[in-house]
Amino acid sequence: MGDCISASICVVNIFSKWLFARWSSIQNLPENLASLEKAMEELKAKRDDVRQKVEIEEQGSDRLQRTNEVKLWLKRVRKVEKEFKDLSSKKSVELGRFILCGLCSKNLISSYQYEESVCKMLKEVAHLMSKGSFKVVVGPTTTSTWVERPLDPNIVGQEKLLAAVWQKLNTDEVGIMGLYGMGGVGKTVLLEQINNKFSSSKSSNELLVWVSVSMNITVDKIQDEISKILGLYEEEKWKQKTVSEKAIIIYNFMKNKKFFLLLDDIWEKVDLKKIGVPHPTRENRCKLVFTTRSRIVCGSMGVDHQFEVKLLLEDEAWDLFQKKVGEATLGRHVDIRRLAKEVAKTCHGLPLALNVIGETMASKTTVREWKQAIGDMSSSSSSSSSSSAIEIAGMDENILKVLKYSYDGLSGKYVKACFRYCALFPAASALKKVDLIDYWICEANNLGVNQSRQSAIGQGYRIINELVRSCLLRNVDSGQYVKMHTWVHKMASWIATASGSNKEKRVVHANDAELHQLPKVNDWTRVCRMLLMNTGLAKLSGGSPNCSRLTTLFLQNNRNLVHIAGDFFKNMPKLVVLNLSSTKLEKVPKQLSDLITLRLLDLSSTMIENLPDGLEKLEKLIHLNLERTSRLKSVVGISRVPLLRVLRLRSSKCLADLNTVNELKSMEHLEVVTIDTSSTTALEELLRHHKLANSVQRLTIVEANNLVLSATDGLIDLTIRNCSTLEVEIQRSSSSRSLRNSSFDNLSTVCISGCDGLKELTWLLFAPNLTVLELRGSNKLEEIINKEKAAAQQMQGDAPLQKLEKLDLSDLPMLKRIHWSALPFPCLRSIKC
Ligand SMILES: *[C@@H]1O[C@H](CO)[C@@H](O)[C@H](O)[C@H]1NC(C)=O
Ligand SMILES: *[C@@H]1O[C@H](CO)[C@@H](O)[C@H](O)[C@H]1NC(C)=O
Ligand SMILES: *[C@@H]1O[C@H](CO)[C@@H](O)[C@H](O)[C@H]1NC(C)=O
Ligand SMILES: *[C@@H]1O[C@H](CO)[C@@H](O)[C@H](O)[C@H]1NC(C)=O
Ligand SMILES: *[C@@H]1O[C@H](CO)[C@@H](O)[C@H](O)[C@H]1NC(C)=O
Ligand SMILES: *[C@@H]1O[C@H](CO)[C@@H](O)[C@H](O)[C@H]1NC(C)=O
Ligand SMILES: *[C@@H]1O[C@H](CO)[C@@H](O)[C@H](O)[C@H]1NC(C)=O
Ligand SMILES: *[C@@H]1O[C@H](CO)[C@@H](O)[C@H](O)[C@H]1NC(C)=O
Repeated sequence: MGDCISASICVVNIFSKWLFARWSSIQNLPENLASLEKAMEELKAKRDDVRQKVEIEEQGSDRLQRTNEVKLWLKRVRKVEKEFKDLSSKKSVELGRFILCGLCSKNLISSYQYEESVCKMLKEVAHLMSKGSFKVVVGPTTTSTWVERPLDPNIVGQEKLLAAVWQKLNTDEVGIMGLYGMGGVGKTVLLEQINNKFSSSKSSNELLVWVSVSMNITVDKIQDEISKILGLYEEEKWKQKTVSEKAIIIYNFMKNKKFFLLLDDIWEKVDLKKIGVPHPTRENRCKLVFTTRSRIVCGSMGVDHQFEVKLLLEDEAWDLFQKKVGEATLGRHVDIRRLAKEVAKTCHGLPLALNVIGETMASKTTVREWKQAIGDMSSSSSSSSSSSAIEIAGMDENILKVLKYSYDGLSGKYVKACFRYCALFPAASALKKVDLIDYWICEANNLGVNQSRQSAIGQGYRIINELVRSCLLRNVDSGQYVKMHTWVHKMASWIATASGSNKEKRVVHANDAELHQLPKVNDWTRVCRMLLMNTGLAKLSGGSPNCSRLTTLFLQNNRNLVHIAGDFFKNMPKLVVLNLSSTKLEKVPKQLSDLITLRLLDLSSTMIENLPDGLEKLEKLIHLNLERTSRLKSVVGISRVPLLRVLRLRSSKCLADLNTVNELKSMEHLEVVTIDTSSTTALEELLRHHKLANSVQRLTIVEANNLVLSATDGLIDLTIRNCSTLEVEIQRSSSSRSLRNSSFDNLSTVCISGCDGLKELTWLLFAPNLTVLELRGSNKLEEIINKEKAAAQQMQGDAPLQKLEKLDLSDLPMLKRIHWSALPFPCLRSIKC
């Protein structure tokens, strides 16, 4: 060491002296190098000792972490090691120089510099050695994972849910829990409260990890977040590691520890294994709680339990709104409090809306301002067209943007289009699922035009289910209908009219009795869909708007509408869906036949007497509804509509006779028929034709004699009135091509009235899915299932009528029993005798 000092004091400016000094200093190079190597070896040994000690102590407890001093020391040792490596690699060259051309000046300089580095490093090594005797290598973790999260002071309506969630989490059965609900409903707030509950019950050997996931986040990013919380991130090299290397590090850190992992706002399955998080089990008692907008995600995460975070009740909503607006504003005037209640109602229980709107309204201190706001809001939620929804003071936009993520998360372009379609109808109206699907089938090419109806319907239901599970629609009325929350509806209309590349304009006027003529529209050529429903319209005339892009036109439920002028349809070259149901129209203009793109035409509950002229020109028409047309005389000529798949004629005045049945037989695309008849021969003919028979879904038979019915798969709804006798044939296939014996697999509703010859209905054994049975005014009916007959049919297996929900038995003077033994009716909800 002392030899080095001579090198550093040579600051003489005469060259010879300088040269001499260099010369003498480098004389020590071999010796110094040897010392350095030795010192380095000792330092490495020391480093290994320290590292081992640190690792042992760190693993002993996760509340302990290497001290900053140790970290710094290790870092410096690493640096010196690296420099030493460089130096060593040049060693042989420099030593060679030193021996060969000792005094050659060029080499001398290089050798001198080398020697200088060696000396410097010797000093550094000595310094590190002296500092490397640590008494304490670990200390309490500095970045504790037990972070409490700041809470919103105004949390309303979550106490019960929080208690339920917490209780469930404390059971051993629940390792993974999902909290789902629509955007803005308060899932994150709930998770924050759970975080704080964990945090306040902490014990020393546990980890609490919160990651905000949200859309489009990668596994890599989640790993980074977790590693930061666990204090693994400071390693400089973290960024360079691959996903699987990171996973191994995280896994080894977490594997023997109890942890609570909270993932906020996930959009798809988060693969724990890929991240390196051990799977929460009953044994390790670890917990994973996550929030999501989609129930599908709960399923794919394999939750042990899930909770829905629901909208606020009216009282809760008012409570929250009051807190948000503040007493200072509310107390200014009695009217403000009253108006505020109205504003709160427009939020429909969505905390996000209550918060955003409440905050905005807090600064509105005059009655006039509040009145103005209510005016703005009601005009946006009423159905009057276009983009006014976003124009109210920018408030809505903040909310809609949040909700729009749900829409962005839908699985495809097509599902999105179907969702936008739903928003054509007024907010909060119940939409019948099958109607929606029929519209989709007709309006959108991908659903169904080339598929069988059956598979298109299956796909339609899958889309509805996705929308329901994404909390964009909700099931109502035992699942036959769906509804859209008002704010979701606003979001959908906003997307459909204002944002994105899907600029499609819609004209919507619903429940507006003041509307007596076509609404004013600046540019008809931009309108794609128009809904004028339940308005005061009586006549549609006065020109032919150029609707060159119109595809859907809803005019149903205009109960005053008696006339549509011929040229109204003149400029609608793309129209595919036209619903004129429940209007007073006695005829439709013959120009209707120019709508050659039309696929769906609904004339149900109208006063028409004949089929529209030129119907056969509608070469693309696949769906025609003529139900409840109380004046319709006949459907002769219907078979000339080439592609018709769905023909609904139930409860129309026109009863099917033999001619009609023969026409139907010739329609090769027909898949769904609903029809009434009173002709035994027509019915026989219909049932003889296998394909046609199976397409009949709803059938009413009135005053037919000697009725013989055979089982068909397709039949859903059967009504029989005033028929003396009824015989039902069940074909038993011992030989025939079909593998199954025929039965009424889909039959769910049977209504029989005024059938005096009837004694029993044993054939109902072949209707396993019957849910509604109404029997009225049959004087001879003694029992429903007859033992002897059942035995003859070899049908004594399962108990019959087990899916029955509604049973109506009126005016049956002779009825003794339903079945020879008592039957359980597990699904029965309503009974009338
Ligand atoms: C997520 O990615 C998709 C497709 O890359 C994009 O359309 C969407 O806007 C992204 N969402 C967010 C929140 O960044
Ligand atoms: C047409 O509108 C009526 C009345 O709202 C509705 O009942 C019917 O299902 C609609 N037609 C179709 C095909 O959805
Ligand atoms: C449906 O079939 C027609 C002709 O058969 C074809 O031109 C069209 O591309 C098909 N549409 C789809 C969506 O497959
Ligand atoms: C209707 O509008 C379209 C597109 O702007 C145009 O091409 C067409 O000529 C117009 N038709 C009439 C009858 O004005
Ligand atoms: C009737 O039920 C069978 C199964 O039993 C099913 O395959 C078929 O699709 C159903 N038909 C209709 C029209 O629902
Ligand atoms: C069926 O018969 C009853 C009683 O005979 C009668 O009141 C009723 O109008 C008839 N119904 C039909 C649809 O003919
Ligand atoms: C059809 O019914 C007959 C008895 O009537 C029975 O022997 C046969 O196994 C049944 N076939 C099927 C496929 O259930
Ligand atoms: C009707 O019942 C049969 C047999 O019990 C069953 O296989 C079928 O799935 C049911 N169909 C419907 C639509 O519920």
